Amino acid sequence: MESSLNLITLVALSIVLFSALVQLVSADFTQLFKPNWAPDHIVTQGETIWLTLDNTTGCGFESRSKYLFGKASLQLKLVEGDSAGIVTAFYMSSEGPNHDELDFEFLGNISGEPYLVQTNVYVNGSGNREQRHTLWFDPTTDFHTYSFFWNHRSIVFLIDDIPIRIFANKEKIGVSYPKAQAMGIHGSLWNADDWATQGGRVKTNWTNAPFVSMFRSFNIDACELLPESDGLAGKCGKLGQFWSDKPGMNRLNKQQRKQLKWVITNHLVYDYCKDVPRFLELPKECLK
Ligand SMILES: *[C@@H]1O[C@H](CO)[C@@H](O)[C@H](O)[C@H]1NC(C)=O
Ligand SMILES: *[C@@H]1O[C@H](CO)[C@@H](O)[C@H](O)[C@H]1NC(C)=O
Ligand SMILES: *[C@@H]1O[C@H](CO)[C@@H](O)[C@H](O)[C@H]1NC(C)=O
Ligand SMILES: *[C@@H]1O[C@H](CO)[C@@H](O)[C@H](O)[C@H]1NC(C)=O
Repeated sequence: MESSLNLITLVALSIVLFSALVQLVSADFTQLFKPNWAPDHIVTQGETIWLTLDNTTGCGFESRSKYLFGKASLQLKLVEGDSAGIVTAFYMSSEGPNHDELDFEFLGNISGEPYLVQTNVYVNGSGNREQRHTLWFDPTTDFHTYSFFWNHRSIVFLIDDIPIRIFANKEKIGVSYPKAQAMGIHGSLWNADDWATQGGRVKTNWTNAPFVSMFRSFNIDACELLPESDGLAGKCGKLGQFWSDKPGMNRLNKQQRKQLKWVITNHLVYDYCKDVPRFLELPKECLK
């Protein structure tokens, strides 16, 4: 009796230890990421990162590996108070002039006025696909989860698992789609007061510096290419190999479609596809 109890205890204990180890591996910042701009403005502790902007510089970090298809999430708590002129970014990007890139950019504001979140998609070096949303919460008081999901069919931007935007693969009508280049995961904080807040009219008030944004709880469930692969699609590029291409992942479910509709109705404040004066001809993916 006593020995079987001990055995149970041992098994339970090793399960606890094992999962703690796994958790640590996926949560420890330095294992997954490295600073790539102004390391002296970055503080890390376990799974949490503080990025600081002052009148000398912003800062940033990137993942050690690159990824193609899957889901990448993190939690963010943005610069509070007067954050006018300041942008916090969570983005995925490959390298070089013909790079692919997916962006979440959080545009600060004066105290009490709302942040905007700007999303964008670059394919083969061309972007100009901005959407802007207001948020249904204050992103400076609590952590919220921001995610990219992408497979061969579409790219979905999510906030707290609510889809806010879909960029569908429209290669059939001649629109390039980011599927050939693996992307690194990046975070940064910088001064963008020439454009970010109220069209650049409101400047960063340096009296309130340093400005700090917090990142934590990275969750990467994506096909990983090691640094040696030079960012080519390799094993990750093949259709149908990974969970992200399973049939159930090809469209939003009913609840998600309802959520997306709610976001579009209540929180979408700018859509490049509606910006007729900006383009001589609307981009092809905007046409129905
Ligand atoms: C930058 O900030 C520091 C500390 O607040 C201040 O001493 C310095 O004068 C500032 N420099 C500029 C160029 O504004
Ligand atoms: C990417 O853009 C370059 C020009 O910058 C072009 O030569 C190339 O064909 C494009 N590649 C794809 C896959 O569209
Ligand atoms: C900042 O606040 C103003 C006034 O409420 C608003 O028009 C603007 O969209 C907000 N966000 C940014 C990034 O300018
Ligand atoms: C900048 O911030 C300081 C401290 O909060 C405030 O006293 C000052 O009025 C602000 N300046 C501007 C131009 O808003």
